[in-house]
Amino acid sequence: MVTNSSDVIAGRLVERTSRGLAAAVSAAVGDGSLADGTRLPPIRRLANDLELSPSTVSAAWRLLAAARVIRADGRRGTVITAHAQPGPVRYRRALERSISFSVDLSTGVADPALLPDLVSALRRVRQGWSAGSYLDDPIVPGLIERLREDWPYDAKAFVVVDGAMDALDQLATHHLRAGDVVVVENPGFPPLFDLLDAVGARMIGVDVDDDGLVVDQLADALARHPRMAFIQPRAHNPFGTTMTVSRARRLAALLGSTSCLVVEDDSAGAVASTPPISLGRWLPEQTVYVRSFSKSHGPDLRLAAMSGPAALMEELRERRLLGQGWSSRLLQAVLLELLSRDESRRQVETARATYAHRRGTLVAELARRGVVTRGRDGLNLWLPVHDESAAVLYLASRGIGAAAGSPFMSRPGGSAHLRITVGMVAGDFERVADDLAHASRVSSSFGPR
Ligand SMILES: Cc1ncc(COP(=O)(O)O)c(C=O)c1O
Repeated sequence: MVTNSSDVIAGRLVERTSRGLAAAVSAAVGDGSLADGTRLPPIRRLANDLELSPSTVSAAWRLLAAARVIRADGRRGTVITAHAQPGPVRYRRALERSISFSVDLSTGVADPALLPDLVSALRRVRQGWSAGSYLDDPIVPGLIERLREDWPYDAKAFVVVDGAMDALDQLATHHLRAGDVVVVENPGFPPLFDLLDAVGARMIGVDVDDDGLVVDQLADALARHPRMAFIQPRAHNPFGTTMTVSRARRLAALLGSTSCLVVEDDSAGAVASTPPISLGRWLPEQTVYVRSFSKSHGPDLRLAAMSGPAALMEELRERRLLGQGWSSRLLQAVLLELLSRDESRRQVETARATYAHRRGTLVAELARRGVVTRGRDGLNLWLPVHDESAAVLYLASRGIGAAAGSPFMSRPGGSAHLRITVGMVAGDFERVADDLAHASRVSSSFGPR
């Protein structure tokens, strides 16, 4: 007997709401009962078959479309597309390059010349860091104590993960469901937006200003009951904001009356020149604070540490046992060695001062050329431009790589920008500032100079 899609869905429908219907379709896709390319019945017919209102079916279809489980396919109607995920589209748009530049300011990464040498740190690691059992403590002894020295609040529980993106992925994948509303920053980090799209979350973009997330906009967003709010507490990529204490207090007061989990991505970590700050100081039971070591100690160390409510951290640890298990204790031992040794600590301090100098010098040179920028910390500068494509093209013609600003935007509208990794400008500030200032003014109707 051939079972039609209505029967397949009806058999999995537990909750007679749009979310329940979306879950039933997802379940049928997950267990293979609805294969890629399967055409779904028209909304009215399905509503009739399932004894639901057409508006419930339409709302479920919107959730499933946001999660890319289904897609409207012209005259074929609505089809299952669950395995045709587009993946990191914004990520690639922001970073993919077909040419190489003499000065590449498009990458957002740390200057390799300012990173400690991981291989010699590995040589210094003594035997005895690994007991070799799959159920050993997933964090090496001494690391948490070291982290607490400048952790922004008195956190109760820690998990070490394979970079900040791993932390965001664990939280989004295991703690969000398709259709969940989440707050993200505008501008924000493109790979995070791609990740949230991939899990089917519905993003509300909230603007960032010089002090952090804009309070009134967050208040409006909270009225839509987001499950999580993703923010960067300092050295924001791309804007350069570090949240002020007074802004943090106001945000915490607002968020404290909701059940929204705050996820903080401190991606610059120890190379930020502003001190660490976290809403965990006010909302320890509602905040996950993630610190990456990619910018301070090297992206290939692949480590970040996070703290959060004890029950949530325990859940993440347990869930990880069914995947990667833990983050390499050998790499953790290298990190601990680098965090403990005076020479390595001085190296990170030098990197921090160098980034601050590079940023400050370029910002001042741009200001002298009439280009006013915002933000105060981090490896990146959010450069206002008249015309995004023309500016990228102009800079390319001058041998400078820059990232287009639009993939960083989480909501439509807003003025054009480029993301410039000023942390990579090691000299020649005047020439770079000349080119950036010119790029900020070019427009495609005139073409590059
Ligand atoms: C805001 C932000 N979050 C996360 C990351 C990735 O961090 P990690 O290398 O620790 O995964 C970056 C890297 O540039 C970043 O800028």
